[in-house]
Amino acid sequence: MARKRASEPTKITTKEAIVTSDKETKPLPPPPPPPRGTSNDQPIAPPKKGFIFKLSLLLIAPYFYLLLFHYQIQHDLIKPILINAGLSLAGFFLTFKMIPVASKYVLRRNLFGYDINKKGTPQGTVKVPESLGIVVAVVFMVLTIVFQFLNFAPDSNWLVEYNAALASICFMTLLGFIDDVLDVPWRVKLLLPSIAALPLLMAYAGHTTIIIPKPLVPYIGLKVLDLGFIYKIYMWFLAIFCTNCINIHAGINGLEAGQTVVIASAILIHNVMQIGASADPEYQQAHAFSVYLVQPLLATSLALLSYNWYPSSVFVGDTYTYFAGMTMAVVGILGHFSETLLIFFLAQVLNFLLSVPQLFGFKHCPRHRLPRFDPQTGLLTGTNDGTLVNFYLRMLGRKTENSLCVHLLLVQALGCCICFGLRYLLTGWYK
Ligand code: UD1
Ligand code: MG
Repeated sequence: MARKRASEPTKITTKEAIVTSDKETKPLPPPPPPPRGTSNDQPIAPPKKGFIFKLSLLLIAPYFYLLLFHYQIQHDLIKPILINAGLSLAGFFLTFKMIPVASKYVLRRNLFGYDINKKGTPQGTVKVPESLGIVVAVVFMVLTIVFQFLNFAPDSNWLVEYNAALASICFMTLLGFIDDVLDVPWRVKLLLPSIAALPLLMAYAGHTTIIIPKPLVPYIGLKVLDLGFIYKIYMWFLAIFCTNCINIHAGINGLEAGQTVVIASAILIHNVMQIGASADPEYQQAHAFSVYLVQPLLATSLALLSYNWYPSSVFVGDTYTYFAGMTMAVVGILGHFSETLLIFFLAQVLNFLLSVPQLFGFKHCPRHRLPRFDPQTGLLTGTNDGTLVNFYLRMLGRKTENSLCVHLLLVQALGCCICFGLRYLLTGWYK
């Protein structure tokens, strides 16, 4: 990534040096102000409002239909969910308004990237503001903290876990932002989530048991197995995996925020189905807990996507990919649906498996594992780097960046549908 630090000492060019020596005796005039429109203060391209509106309707309508009409959910469960939805809507508009403002500030500090898939065209020379995930994360934190005040009684059992979840998400955002600013070597950045997951692991006091799938019960001789300490290690790996695998399924305009939006919608639908189908208050609370964190994630991510969609006027940064990955990992862990979450992550799991040779050093891993862009045709061609993006292009032929992103998000949605299908088929037989 082409990123310049604002704190770099100003270098004197040859031309300036000659001028200075010619006029040694005269004091230098003050430097002229930067001309408007050529400085870093240029406004970013407007958001894709119409597209985001249609996408939001498509993703949110099934969820609200299930929540409000399909299931008979008790009033005391619906009420906090709707309060949270109202806050999330406010969060959407706040994020939407704040991104152009924050873009100016990050550009002033020279936090920008060049769009690699536009290299060779005029768009490839534009400085695209980077790390706008910071706006999403800050708005998300404000919403979830305000919601805590509105919803949880001071002695609620859920408060410890809720605060631990927020601490891990906040810690992950900080480390993601540090990575964006300092450009940490990528093998080191793989380890950052293991540090950020610590608050959650240390505070976790929930159960450490797993339900053995019914077909395996005769062989194991147990219906429920207490994993104890191993369960915490499993949680830890899940957090590391989810955060990194969102970050490495990236590099195409709209893909980072788009995949999060699709998975978050699937999580919400799963949560409401579980709340509606169960009569166990503890189980319902676990899924409501997940809704309280995923609704704000979805709303703020949609606002970010409106700027990040092709052609991106902002980049999300590792701040966002880490933040979003950790939020989804946390809800999967505390909502006790980590296996379902992993099936929602099918595209990311495939991308990870394709990446293994390069991630673990068996093959050379370049800084960017992106397709090759042809500025003449505007098409992307798959390279031999092991990513789902390249694999997809190699299998299905060259595509424009926009259509590739749409295809990959449809693959993501298909993975989520497969998960719902599997759950439906295996209900009663598997667990
Ligand atoms: C991960 C991937 C890397 C991929 C990169 C793209 C691994 C091990 N690392 O690295 O292969 O190239 O994400 O984000 O798989 N960019 C674009 N268009 C986009 C989004 C990003 O050109 O739509 C470029 C920009 O130059 C941007 C940079 O990617 O500045 C961001 O890269 P960064 O998130 O720092 O890369 P990594 O997460 O380290
Ligand atoms: Mg990244």
